[in-house]
Amino acid sequence: MKSFLQPKLQLLLILLSLYSCTAKKDIAQKHSADSFNPGSVWNDTEGNPINAHGGGILFHDGIYYWYGEYKKGKTSLPPEATWEAYRTDVAGISCYSSKDLVNWKNEGLVLSAVKDDAAHDLHTSKVLERPKVIFNKKTGKFVMWMHVDSADYSKAAAGVAVSDSPVGKFKYIESFRPNNAMSRDQTVFVDDDAKAYQFYSSEDNKTMYISELTDDYLRPSGKFTRNFENLSREAPAVFKYNKKYYIITSGCSGWDPNIATIATADTIMGLWTVQKKELCEGPDADKTFYAQSTYVIPVQGREGAFIAMFDKWNKTDLESSRYVWLPLRIDKNGATVLWQEKWDMSIFDK
Ligand code: GAL
Repeated sequence: MKSFLQPKLQLLLILLSLYSCTAKKDIAQKHSADSFNPGSVWNDTEGNPINAHGGGILFHDGIYYWYGEYKKGKTSLPPEATWEAYRTDVAGISCYSSKDLVNWKNEGLVLSAVKDDAAHDLHTSKVLERPKVIFNKKTGKFVMWMHVDSADYSKAAAGVAVSDSPVGKFKYIESFRPNNAMSRDQTVFVDDDAKAYQFYSSEDNKTMYISELTDDYLRPSGKFTRNFENLSREAPAVFKYNKKYYIITSGCSGWDPNIATIATADTIMGLWTVQKKELCEGPDADKTFYAQSTYVIPVQGREGAFIAMFDKWNKTDLESSRYVWLPLRIDKNGATVLWQEKWDMSIFDK
């Protein structure tokens, strides 16, 4: 009996340990991705859907940081709304970190909503959108610019927060209308000479302002230009390649998609010329693949490789909005974002 059971038991033990090894591996693999799947649920390294909308990327000391609007809970339409101003209560700004741009670790909320002061810019009842973080080499501070607004979007202001670390916590400083002009959809961009600029939809979203920032990146310097006058461009995403500046923008149709355009300039404050060739190509390119621009990521260590980041908004359930990240290529005909069902970094080798 004994001699018969022992080999069987041994086999069982071996099988059990083999099974537990593969099970463990499965868990690890489940949360490690090797490709971009635009428009699909994108899980972080813990297996939870990434929640960072209207976001932007900072590359610092070998790590990418993704900051975005943390949209949690019920989406509702304020009773006084005269248009589709769908919203979730403000929760804060989330941050994720990554070395490969595909696998993202949740770093938590780096700026949190304020619950007990209804007058505060970050109160849950307000609007907090399109955060972007830049690093100031001189001061050693991480500076966040964001769109802060009242629930009816009448405040139209820019908010600024600072931190000593990329993963926060950020300390909220103040909000204002830069250059005494409305500021809604916005981004910030640092040029090679370390000067920084805020790009923002102003004058009731009709005209895009480009505003140079002070050396500490905390305020407008007072130098600004008005661009795309009366063309109602939103959702600015700015990058530089081969000494040329590029800006992707959307039209102005709230959470609903429209066609993105890209413009170029030889100097950052303008003049900007809209590219004649369409930026997006593939199915639903005329609706920007049902998404809206938010940022363009220069892929580190790969000359000329860029990723265009778009938000695929779900206006009646904003928390379930998805991300559409696609490779952006520039050749003699201009910039192109070609739809891909699934892709990885090897696309830039071709
Ligand atoms: C969009 C804008 C979004 C958000 C939305 C509100 O036009 O790009 O960031 O503000 O309107 O409806």
